[in-house]
Amino acid sequence: MASFTNLSIPLLLLAILFPTLALCYINPAATSVHQNATKPSAYHAYIVLVEPPRSNAGEDAHRLWHKSFLPSSLTDESNESRLLHSYTEVFSGFAVRLTDAELDTVAKKPGFVRAFPDRTLQLMTTHTPEFLGLRNDTGFWSQAGYGKGVIIGLLDTGIYATHPSFNGHGVPPPPARWKGSCKAARCNNKLIGAKSFIEGVDSGDEEGHGTHTSSTAAGNFITGASYHGVGVGKGTAAGIAPSAHIAMYKVCDSRGCEESAVLAGLEEAIKDGVDVLSFSVGGTMSPIYDQDPIAIGAFSAMSKGILMVCAAGNDGPDLFSVTNVAPWLLTVAAGSVDRSFGASVNLGNGKIIDGEALTQKASPSSKSHPLVYSEERRYCNYSDDSGIAGKILVCENTKSETQKSNVRRIVGAGASGVVLFNDKISGYTTIVQDYNSSVVQVTASDGGILIAYAASSTSSSVASLTYNNTLFGVRPAPVVPFFSSRGPSFTNLNILKPDILALGLNILAAWPPSTASGQGPFNIISGTSMATPHVSGVAALIKSIHPDWSPAAIKSAILTTSDIVNSTGGSILDEQHRKAGVYDRGAGHVNPARAADPGLVYELGAIDYAGYICWLFGDEGLRTIVRNWSLTCAKLPKVKDV
Ligand SMILES: *[C@@H]1O[C@H](CO)[C@@H](O)[C@H](O)[C@H]1NC(C)=O
Ligand SMILES: *[C@@H]1O[C@H](CO)[C@@H](O)[C@H](O)[C@H]1NC(C)=O
Ligand SMILES: *[C@@H]1O[C@H](CO)[C@@H](O)[C@H](O)[C@H]1NC(C)=O
Ligand SMILES: *[C@@H]1O[C@H](CO)[C@@H](O)[C@H](O)[C@H]1NC(C)=O
Ligand SMILES: *[C@@H]1O[C@H](CO)[C@@H](O)[C@H](O)[C@H]1NC(C)=O
Ligand SMILES: *[C@@H]1O[C@H](CO)[C@@H](O)[C@H](O)[C@H]1NC(C)=O
Ligand SMILES: *[C@@H]1O[C@H](CO)[C@@H](O)[C@H](O)[C@H]1NC(C)=O
Ligand SMILES: *[C@@H]1O[C@H](CO)[C@@H](O)[C@H](O)[C@H]1NC(C)=O
Repeated sequence: MASFTNLSIPLLLLAILFPTLALCYINPAATSVHQNATKPSAYHAYIVLVEPPRSNAGEDAHRLWHKSFLPSSLTDESNESRLLHSYTEVFSGFAVRLTDAELDTVAKKPGFVRAFPDRTLQLMTTHTPEFLGLRNDTGFWSQAGYGKGVIIGLLDTGIYATHPSFNGHGVPPPPARWKGSCKAARCNNKLIGAKSFIEGVDSGDEEGHGTHTSSTAAGNFITGASYHGVGVGKGTAAGIAPSAHIAMYKVCDSRGCEESAVLAGLEEAIKDGVDVLSFSVGGTMSPIYDQDPIAIGAFSAMSKGILMVCAAGNDGPDLFSVTNVAPWLLTVAAGSVDRSFGASVNLGNGKIIDGEALTQKASPSSKSHPLVYSEERRYCNYSDDSGIAGKILVCENTKSETQKSNVRRIVGAGASGVVLFNDKISGYTTIVQDYNSSVVQVTASDGGILIAYAASSTSSSVASLTYNNTLFGVRPAPVVPFFSSRGPSFTNLNILKPDILALGLNILAAWPPSTASGQGPFNIISGTSMATPHVSGVAALIKSIHPDWSPAAIKSAILTTSDIVNSTGGSILDEQHRKAGVYDRGAGHVNPARAADPGLVYELGAIDYAGYICWLFGDEGLRTIVRNWSLTCAKLPKVKDV
């Protein structure tokens, strides 16, 4: 995708706002494709917002009120239940499968507010606490009680409950206000909630993502954690808030995350009484707040004192790629860690190129082999394996599964190794991949050096590969990886998004024994998905010290104390090693110990946001997002952003 940087902002706004507006329900006929009402495929799932019932008579009254909007034919035609979810906490409304004609009828009933097509959202796919200054012997972590008494809810792919990271050792029972329940293979004081919102499946984790994010936020201490037990990344594993409680709301599976299921999970989390919600999920583009059911639901969570921490997205490095942009959300960008799975390419001319290798070969071989690069086979697309035996091949990393199996085949066919260099866009961001063979990954610029060397004297260019296992103190760090989505937010250029930077590159955390994308008990993956639970954990630590702080106060504390320089005082860099800007890193890199004692916090409540919503969208927006029927824009102070 072309970089947006050369375009003027007004042009961009048009380009981006238009497809987004189309997401909102305006006129069903305009979006209709099929008009065959008797055919189940003519049903589309919609999220429908309605006014709350006049009488505030509990859940049954809500359900009856919601049903009153639905066509009577709904239950007659088939046994399939078309009312998917009924919502009372996130907003008054429901998710339902309707034909376009039926939706038209629903929209005409008094009390109807808005309807949105149900979207499918995507997952934003031992050392990290120390990098954040959280060590057992430092005061802050223990002062915060390791997050004791705080409940972190996660909207994710489920959880592998019997993983050692979710042992209940030393975790006190949940607070009395906890109303949730746990339906998992193991429930204890650590894992106090587990529920599935996907029909026909339990809260278990087939993907691994939810297990990984849960253990990052609040995994308990376990010693001797490492990648596949081979010593890579070895150390004591712990989440950021190891004594906090975990509640898993399974809303995603291999197909992604239905927005209607996400809202059902969010609804339940609010009812259950979680303190922090971790949401490592996003669309490729965030709609404007008043057209984004999740932002609307999150407003309810915020009003009830729950901070929602969200992934900024993995659509960087283009500008305007950030998602989850509502100001009441805490939006997290990804940064690198000062850890590397070290490996080097030692060239015949004496030059050493430092790279990374997730598969660390036990016995480092210093034997030199011919180093070969072929422009025609730049992507390791060798169709014929003759002539590769005993050679080290240099290729550009496409990160595709096809290339991955090609590379495995090449090494199987006798090549001595493969050096994969990053493409230009990735620059210095190396997402380590498991090839289970002699593969070293290097940066884009080192790729240039290797190509030049291989071409310099085709017959005598040689190299050897050596492995250095896990290295700490790698510089520079943190660096914003290419994939981390960038601001500004097209919705409002004056509200800085993303908000904060946290670790999201090559993160080691818990994993189920076997999934399509890797084996446990630990796995290393990257994304703003991984950055998000780090900040959720930090929010839990702050909440543990300051139980009375509002979501805005916790967010303010995290933002105003973040680091805009690295540990040696240099600028935080981006994937091209340029100075990272605010649209890359937000306020800066999260600094937990300082966040607990910020000196000053900026308080914001529902009424403050309401004034801002009035300024943006008027009474219609107030009715949709704030839903406090005693408020009108005329009576609220207008909160402008400029
Ligand atoms: C509607 O679908 C049914 C069943 O597939 C089909 O028999 C019928 O012809 C369709 N009607 C229209 C108007 O397309
Ligand atoms: C509806 O369910 C009943 C009982 O479960 C069953 O006998 C009937 O065949 C079903 N009808 C349809 C259209 O699937
Ligand atoms: C850190 O402290 C926790 C809680 O006291 C303990 O369970 C854990 O083993 C300690 N970890 C290390 C590496 O000392
Ligand atoms: C690995 O070790 C060798 C020899 O000690 C050193 O020259 C090289 O720079 C190291 N590589 C990395 C990635 O640190
Ligand atoms: C390898 O892929 C590139 C790009 O798709 C193509 O140009 C080239 O011809 C391919 N080489 C071989 C040997 O198939
Ligand atoms: C990795 O390769 C080794 C042989 O080099 C093999 O024994 C092992 O089973 C492989 N592991 C996986 C996970 O494929
Ligand atoms: C800090 O950043 C500067 C560049 O801005 C870099 O030269 C230095 O190595 C970095 N320090 C660490 C500890 O990463
Ligand atoms: C609605 O707004 C009023 C202020 O006008 C406030 O007192 C009340 O608590 C709000 N209601 C809810 C449910 O937030």
